[in-house]
Amino acid sequence: MRGITAFSAVAALWLASAGTGIAASSLTVLCGVDEMWCAAMKTAYEAKTGVEISVTRKSTGDILNQIRAEKAAPTVDVWWGGTGDTHLQAGSENLLEPYQPAHERDMLPWAQNFFAMSGGRSAGIYAGALGFAYNADLLRELKLPAPTCWKDLTDIAYRGRIQSGNPNSSGTAFTTLATLVQLFGEDEAFRYLAALNHNIERYTPSGSAPIKAAARGETLIGISFMHDAVTQKQAGFPLVIVAPCEGTGYEIGAVSIVKGARNIEEAKRFVDFALSPEGQGTGAASGQNQVPSNAKSGLPLAAPDISMIKMVDYDFATFGSPEERSRLLRRFDAEIAATN
Ligand code: F6P
Repeated sequence: MRGITAFSAVAALWLASAGTGIAASSLTVLCGVDEMWCAAMKTAYEAKTGVEISVTRKSTGDILNQIRAEKAAPTVDVWWGGTGDTHLQAGSENLLEPYQPAHERDMLPWAQNFFAMSGGRSAGIYAGALGFAYNADLLRELKLPAPTCWKDLTDIAYRGRIQSGNPNSSGTAFTTLATLVQLFGEDEAFRYLAALNHNIERYTPSGSAPIKAAARGETLIGISFMHDAVTQKQAGFPLVIVAPCEGTGYEIGAVSIVKGARNIEEAKRFVDFALSPEGQGTGAASGQNQVPSNAKSGLPLAAPDISMIKMVDYDFATFGSPEERSRLLRRFDAEIAATN
């Protein structure tokens, strides 16, 4: 009798899941945004299409490395999220499939420029400015001055109290490296990074980890995208967010289809959803604060106002080239990371 009851329960569960109309997984997505947004996008896409998808979060440089390594036999269909200059690098290495998304005409000018620059291989889905944030409670407790500029971060007072990403894996940290080079010139930027290195407690694999650590008081200052700091602040953590006085860089987050994707039609459908107001709305709905690229998408209420921030004229073409990326990363590893 007990056996029959157990069997009935299993059968009922099976019937219930069959009743959701969700088909077996037919799309593999590598996700470069926050875990919360990755999960919300999976839920929204499955609910809309009835197609089960596999979504895994990775940092931008790690996604690029995986797609490179799998070039002969790709297991990934779509690369969704992560800093756009790294998508451009993949495009120029012939790792991406061109596609004209359904919503391209509704994109804001910066996203249309990005799409053109990528040769139609990557579409911009959001933008966000780089900055840093400090834990106000900890700063007060330690009786330290409040930093307002990039150069302030080299003050000996912050020794061992700053976290930043590792630019080899983190797109955020590569944007930081490229931003400093554009702000100060390459040699001066590396002198700055060498001085900052004395204050760096650790280089984290992911770009939002430093801000999450600062939010929780595990470190004093985190260098990250400002929208990630806003998300932590909204969660109630005592962060003060700084747009550095010298100016700063920004990202255009992107979506691309992997060349040789096994599920090309479903991949196109996913890209269209990612550019639609409905798909982009999953960001704000999961607590994210990037500026969406579709003019018809709602702006998250607390998104940093990019037009008010002193911004470098970020050179995506140069810093999106594989040669420049490899050269800067080699120099970073040899002169900075090796001495941390
Ligand atoms: O957390 C979201 C985010 O900041 C995106 O805006 C950005 O594209 C991505 O993370 C970069 O992540 P990482 O630095 O880990 O590559």
